[in-house]
Amino acid sequence: MFKGLPALAAIMLAVGCTPEAQVSGRALYGQYCAGCHGSGGKGDGPAAGGLARAPADLTQISARHGGVFPTAHVMSVIDGYTRRGDRSSVMPELGVALQSGPLVMVDTGDGVMTPTPVNLVVLARYLERLQK
Ligand code: HEC
Repeated sequence: MFKGLPALAAIMLAVGCTPEAQVSGRALYGQYCAGCHGSGGKGDGPAAGGLARAPADLTQISARHGGVFPTAHVMSVIDGYTRRGDRSSVMPELGVALQSGPLVMVDTGDGVMTPTPVNLVVLARYLERLQK
């Protein structure tokens, strides 16, 4: 009965029907991040001037991390995990807002496939493409 499933999965991959392909990192970024970080990620969004801390320049994340894009770090900054207890952090914890949608299996750099909310994954990939 389930014999067709691997074939179906292969077709879904081929036509881009994976959960990642259904969600636009650019759209999520525009909705949740651009107000502070700016449409191009330079940290110059319309709300940036009113913050106690300047929003990070998101085009320089790799440059700040020895030339390697730190996917796991970026996802944990976005969902708030690494900032819990940091009272000076200005950026909102977006984990709850971004948790809607399916979990996808991703290797975040440690070789272990980890179930991760699809919105976090596509946002991290979008930021990776912004690197200068
Ligand atoms: C209210 C303004 C605000 C919003 C909205 C916001 N950020 Fe931030 N972000 C900041 C500030 C300010 C910092 C600097 C560190 C801190 O205060 O936490 C930062 C830091 C970061 C960092 C750390 C960069 C590094 O090199 O470690 C990443 C990644 C990031 N933001 C991504 C995002 C993404 C993706 C979104 C949308 C889902 C987002 N931010 C929404 C203000 C914001």
